[in-house]
Amino acid sequence: MKIGITGASGKLGNWAVNKLKNRVADKDIVALVRTPEKVASLGVEARVFNYDKTENLAASLKGVEKLLLISGNEIGKRFEQHSAVINAAKEAGVKHIVYTSLLKADNTSIALAPEHLQTEEALKNSGLTYTILRNGWYNENYTETAQNSLAQGALYGSSGEGKINSASREDYAEAAAVVLSEEGHQNKVYELSGDQAFTMKDYAQMMSEISKKDISYVNLSEEEFSKALEQVGMPTAMAKFYAGTHTSTLNGDLSDNRNTLSALIGRPTTTITQSLEVALQ
Ligand SMILES: NC(=O)c1ccc[n+]([C@@H]2O[C@H](COP(=O)([O-])OP(=O)(O)OC[C@H]3O[C@@H](n4cnc5c(N)ncnc54)[C@H](OP(=O)(O)O)[C@@H]3O)[C@@H](O)[C@H]2O)c1
Repeated sequence: MKIGITGASGKLGNWAVNKLKNRVADKDIVALVRTPEKVASLGVEARVFNYDKTENLAASLKGVEKLLLISGNEIGKRFEQHSAVINAAKEAGVKHIVYTSLLKADNTSIALAPEHLQTEEALKNSGLTYTILRNGWYNENYTETAQNSLAQGALYGSSGEGKINSASREDYAEAAAVVLSEEGHQNKVYELSGDQAFTMKDYAQMMSEISKKDISYVNLSEEEFSKALEQVGMPTAMAKFYAGTHTSTLNGDLSDNRNTLSALIGRPTTTITQSLEVALQ
């Protein structure tokens, strides 16, 4: 039985292949990527797979029984791209699609949700077996810019006291590997998030402790934050989106205390402190 992984050249997909290699034979894994050379070091079969080249998708899925569809990163184009993959999977005889969606996709103010929800619906209506992994925020969304925040001496945002239950990409990838390699996850929707909640103020405090420098959290209104991001060079639409996600935190959109992710992977999720320690090494 072959298991295909789209987006395997990306950060989550790379982790997913590596986690799956601990659970199934390498020969049963197919990395579905735009550029096979990017994934040569993974040591699994790589096939060309571009969501936009719809005519070639089904052929690349030949012999694949389970497919991890990692959501694309071109916002606004994704429903069309994901639909093409679902249709090709049907044509190729794929039996089960696991899709990486967004935490609380059916009940969130995050602007990314509609494309994910549309994809979830298309998948449910496809007649294929599905598992929906509604992934919360990655720890790395914060820690990848930690060095910049240290240099600035401050963290800016508009999330006030909003709580965030993020987890590492590695944790979400491991959950995908579990679902792809074990029985019992058919036609389920999982809300996945980190075990621990933190606010941006907590995060600034952690950063101060680890770096031994004084880092404060400066809370702005959504508009002020968006303008501040533009001033440091972020394009307007991206700045508005980014500030909007901060404000969504105030609605509880990035928080969830069901601990479904740690239950799936059989261990506590990676804390933001652990990810921050790695980022600041
Ligand atoms: N939960 C969160 O906090 C969070 C944060 C950011 C993103 N996300 C979502 O989660 C996904 C995975 O995250 P990530 O960090 O691994 O992102 P990433 O490193 O940007 O990886 C995205 C992957 O999608 C592939 N891709 C993009 N367009 C494609 C196309 N037209 N056809 C085939 N493959 C295509 C990329 O391939 P190439 O290598 O060829 O470019 C890459 O492998 C993202 O795409 C996004 O939907 C979630």
